[in-house]
Amino acid sequence: MLESGSGNRDGFTSKFGIICAAAGSAIGLGNIWRFPYVAGENGGGAFLLMYLGFVLVLGIPVMLTEFSIGRRAQRNAYGSFRKLAPGKPWYLVGLMGIVAAFVILAFYSTIAGWTLHYVYTSLINGFAGQSTEQLSRSFEAFQSSIGMPLFWQFVFIVLTAIIILSGIKKGIEKYSKILMPFLFLLLLILSVRSLTLPGAMEGLRFLFRPDFSKINADVMLSALGQAAFSLSIGMGALITYGSYIPKNNNLSQTAFEVSVADLLIAVLAGVAIFPAVFAFQMAPDEGVGLIFKVLPNIFQQMVGGYFFSLMFFILLAIAALTSSISIMEVVVAFLVEEFRMLRSVATAITAIAATVVGVFCTLSWSTFEGVSIFGQSIFGIMDFTASNVLLPLGALLIVLFAGWYLSRADLRDELTNGGLLKARLFGLFMFIIRFVAPVAIAIVFLQGIGFIR
Ligand code: TRP
Repeated sequence: MLESGSGNRDGFTSKFGIICAAAGSAIGLGNIWRFPYVAGENGGGAFLLMYLGFVLVLGIPVMLTEFSIGRRAQRNAYGSFRKLAPGKPWYLVGLMGIVAAFVILAFYSTIAGWTLHYVYTSLINGFAGQSTEQLSRSFEAFQSSIGMPLFWQFVFIVLTAIIILSGIKKGIEKYSKILMPFLFLLLLILSVRSLTLPGAMEGLRFLFRPDFSKINADVMLSALGQAAFSLSIGMGALITYGSYIPKNNNLSQTAFEVSVADLLIAVLAGVAIFPAVFAFQMAPDEGVGLIFKVLPNIFQQMVGGYFFSLMFFILLAIAALTSSISIMEVVVAFLVEEFRMLRSVATAITAIAATVVGVFCTLSWSTFEGVSIFGQSIFGIMDFTASNVLLPLGALLIVLFAGWYLSRADLRDELTNGGLLKARLFGLFMFIIRFVAPVAIAIVFLQGIGFIR
């Protein structure tokens, strides 16, 4: 019944497990660390609206497309294109995904490392008694040091590798199922505390009241990049996961549920952060350190703050882990299937390579502080290149591939599980991936990078 391509291929087992694994990939630092700071830098409400539009109109169809490609081909991101388009250059899209995986893994593990440091600081009660000002300064001191951030980044990469080693069913699926629901609950509690701080309304206004004068090409590209990043689309992570999804799963339903859950968590993170930002008279456009400066303030104002702080950063680290495994898995599956490597060898190679690239990222605020590429730090340029260039480009090529190269009948067959499911919105889906998504992504992308005005 639950057949997968080649007999010995590992894979997900239950419907709930699939949702949790895919949601585990989608929900991560992108929602809780990246969404609030990028929204803060791009004016709040108007950004949220654009982001919402991109998730609903483009994100869900692209996610569905990736699942379909992977499940059809039963291969890694690169191998899927090779198999479905033999002799054609589409495999380059897969290769681009491998490159993107390294870039994302590098800066993702930097931030995840910070999260681990905050777990540790919570544990030793290191935030106690510090003023808003002091909390910001301790964060900056930590960020611009060398040993500690590197240590925690390394720990995080090793943790990711350990889960990858345990495989899909016993690793990724098992952990995601337990941990994701917990995170949601904690975030809910935090939002309530944040909302009841004096001055909270101003934060809500910032997040929810769109100021259309703030919308420009940059903001649109950032919203598109954020949507792609948060949904894990555009580099083949979900092609890879799709290849582990059993043939009887309803892919459309999975894509929809995962995207909505992801959206919900991002908005909830915004509701937890922005009221507190304004209540503590901080700036919403603090940048990458936003949550690390704001959240400890909320915890200090809470009954049981010690406990909540500890729980929160642990869960955030775990959310980061269930995401980073989906990034690393892209590379590992590629090495295992295309070069016939042992999973352990492939994991070790990937982890080492990610560490090497990651070091440059982590030292962006210390050793390489003076380095500026197109006016951005090493960290900034990596994030920009991956999120705002490689992912939109990847998403564009993926929908073009499915919309124009794959046969309509094959795609329909995959989405309906061989005709067993109804495909009421199939026409709409095809229309989106053939026309709407390519045109919209191309316009936003070209405008955002300043190619067209
Ligand atoms: N979506 C994850 C987050 O929000 C990050 C992530 C995991 C990702 N896999 C990805 C981003 C693949 C881009 C592509 O934290």
